[in-house]
This record gives sequence, structure tokens and C-alpha cells, in this order.
Amino acid sequence: MSIRTIEWTGDSLLLLDQRALPGKESVLRCSNASGVAGAIRTMVVRGAPAIGVAAAFGLVLAVPCTRGGKRPWREAFAAAAEELGGTRPTAVNLFWAIERMRGAASTLPDDPEEARRGLENEAVAIYEEDIAANRAMGAHGARLLPDGASVLTHCNAGALATAGYGTALGVIRAAYAAGKRIHVYVDETRPFLQGARLTAWELMKDRIPCTLVTDNMAAKLLGDGKIQAAIVGADRIAGNGDVANKIGTYGVAVLCRVHKVPFYVAAPCSTIDPGVRTGKGIPIEERDADEVTHLAGKRIAPDGVRVYNPAFDVTPARYVTAIVTEKGVLLPPLSRAIRDLFR
Ligand code: MRU
Repeated sequence: MSIRTIEWTGDSLLLLDQRALPGKESVLRCSNASGVAGAIRTMVVRGAPAIGVAAAFGLVLAVPCTRGGKRPWREAFAAAAEELGGTRPTAVNLFWAIERMRGAASTLPDDPEEARRGLENEAVAIYEEDIAANRAMGAHGARLLPDGASVLTHCNAGALATAGYGTALGVIRAAYAAGKRIHVYVDETRPFLQGARLTAWELMKDRIPCTLVTDNMAAKLLGDGKIQAAIVGADRIAGNGDVANKIGTYGVAVLCRVHKVPFYVAAPCSTIDPGVRTGKGIPIEERDADEVTHLAGKRIAPDGVRVYNPAFDVTPARYVTAIVTEKGVLLPPLSRAIRDLFR
């Protein structure tokens, strides 16, 4: 894989610093759980599955690899789980991964060396399963994209947002690898510019044809009949199929409906939260005003202006044509498809 978003060395976690892309490919080394929590909070690593995988390794780092520590490893693990869980509220993969690591921890012995090995095995499994899930989504989803299609995507749901390959971009990658002539229109994704900075960079690295547009150009593209499908990732999918994803996704979905263009969501089962009945129950992160008032560090709005900066919106299930998961393509009625999936 040409993009290494997350790399585990055995005693530290290496994260490709996504804040510096596309200008610089620099790597941040985290050698403790607080370092990983800080990296998630400050968007060094972002994207729902990537956040979950990073947190899992953060929990490995919480446990000392030698005996004779000052406090039992379970205490350090519990404190780290708490800290990591407080970093970003919307992407459910974070909580899913922490729960999975808690489950593994509950079966491990009191000896820290053995416990750390057990936790490491679990985190590596989460990492590898994420890549496998993305590959499977690619295989299921590629069929949905017609040869010659122009496909609109929003935010970054690629290798950078996962352990590798990507969810929405994984589907695009798989269709392209199968020989389909696909052209990707990339929404720049204000205010954090994941589309312009990350998705355009990823697609160009893989030589997949793409065109960058600002978010407010999507309506014109769809109105002009230039888009045959839209595909995005997700941060959390409620039991009824409502989809929380990067702010601006809802607008894309509504435009697709108006213009009779299919709107697809690609996400692993770890992004589905059947415990939340509808999108109304999904907590939406609000981020710093600076992201809106500044562009590349330069102020673009008057000092002191009031700002609203929700990082995600919720697309009602009725606008979703299908959800591509590693277990297959879910079709409406999505509440029933999700119920069957988790049965
Ligand atoms: O704030 P971010 O960059 O973490 O938001 C990311 C997104 O909204 C992605 O579309 C989503 O996590 C899916 S990633 C496969």
C-alpha cells in the first residue's frame, strides 16, 4: 500500500500527520496513550475507522511492557480508555474499538507482560480486519458504479481515514482496478478541507482521475447531469439507517435525490450503532471557531464574529440508496436490513 496512515512498531504508534498534507509527509511517533489521544483530538489521525484503530493501539501503549510498575495495569488501562473515549464524540468506531479492547482486557491475566501481548494481538487484529473489511466493501460496491461514471465524494473516506484502502474511496479504487473508467469529483469539504487536502492527494497518488470542486459547486454539477453516483463514508449509522458523516453530506444527498442520482454510503459494520435508534440520538461534535474564521492560518472573517461549526450532519435514511458494508450491500428499508445484519 502506498499510503501508511497508521503503523505499529511494537513499542510505539506511527501516525502520518494529516494536518501537514498535502504539503509534507511527516510522521508523528506516539509512545503512550495520552499521545494517541492528543493525536486524535488534534486531527493528526482522523476518519472513523482510523480513529478506532489508533485508539486500540493507544490502549496497548497504556500497559507497561515490563513487570514492577507502580500500579496494576488494569488501572492504567481503564484511565487510558476514559481519556481516549473523550477525544471525539461522533465516530462510533472509537467506542466500538475501546469496547472491544475492554472485552479482550477482561480475559487477560494480571501479569502486565502477558496482558500487553494479549492487547497487542487484539489491536493488530482490529487493524487487519479493518483493511479486510475495506477490501470486501470494494468488491461489493464496485458493481454499483457504472463504467464511464463520474462519481461525487465528500470529505475523505480513503486509506487516510482507515487502516488502509478506504471505505468510499475503497469502492472507487476497486471499480477503477476492475477496469472501469471512473472520474471522481472531490468536494473540497469546508472548513477542514479533507477533500482538497486529503482525497485529492490520495486519488492523485493512485492516478485515479479526479477534479476538485468547492462544496457549493455540487448543485451545478448535478444539475448539469455530470454526476452518475455519489459515494461517501460514515461516522455513525443509526439503527434506522440515518447516516452521520462530515458536514455537507446531507446537502449532497438531497441534491442527489432531486436529480435522481444514487447516493451510496460505504461503511464497515463497526460504524453501525444499532443502539442508537435514529440520527437524532447521534452526538454531533462542534469544533473550534478558528476552523471557520481562518484559512491556512490566515484570518478571513472579522475578529469576534459568532461562529457555528458542527463537524457532522445527519442524512435521513430516506435519501440513502444503499449502504455498502463488508457483509454486502444493504438496501431499503434500511432499518430492516440493519436489524437482519445484527441478528
Ligand atoms: O472529522 P473527520 O475528518 O474525522 O471526519 C471524517 C469523515 O466524516 C469521514 O467521511 C468518515 O469518518 C468516514 S471515513 C472512512
